[in-house]
Amino acid sequence: MPKITFVTEKKEIEVPAGSNLRDESRKAGVELHPWIFKYPGLNCMGNGICATCRVLVKQGMDNLSKKGIVEKLSLNTIHAFESIGHEDEMRLACQCTVNGDCTIETKPPMNISGETFWQKPYPNR
Ligand code: FES
Repeated sequence: MPKITFVTEKKEIEVPAGSNLRDESRKAGVELHPWIFKYPGLNCMGNGICATCRVLVKQGMDNLSKKGIVEKLSLNTIHAFESIGHEDEMRLACQCTVNGDCTIETKPPMNISGETFWQKPYPNR
């Protein structure tokens, strides 16, 4: 069974292969949605639109399903601001199928002070 390690919560869980990262996190009591967005109706309930379930995959990206069209659209357009500097490791938990071990950082802060933050909109500067 794949193992999910939550860095911030210092928690490890085993989940069935093919399970959904958001669903399994919630079952284990790991809250992915920040602030008031944990309440039903204040997030998109797993449809890949609100991006409040975004996580950073610290290890095991290859053990998660590939990004689908909904996740790519969400992270690259509507929520591009939140993913700046984390493009390669940010995923929407609700869109991830867990197929093997992975290490997850929940509720990642925005990279406002990161050195790549202001470079992204103007890559040729
Ligand atoms: S729950 Fe809204 S994008 Fe995942």
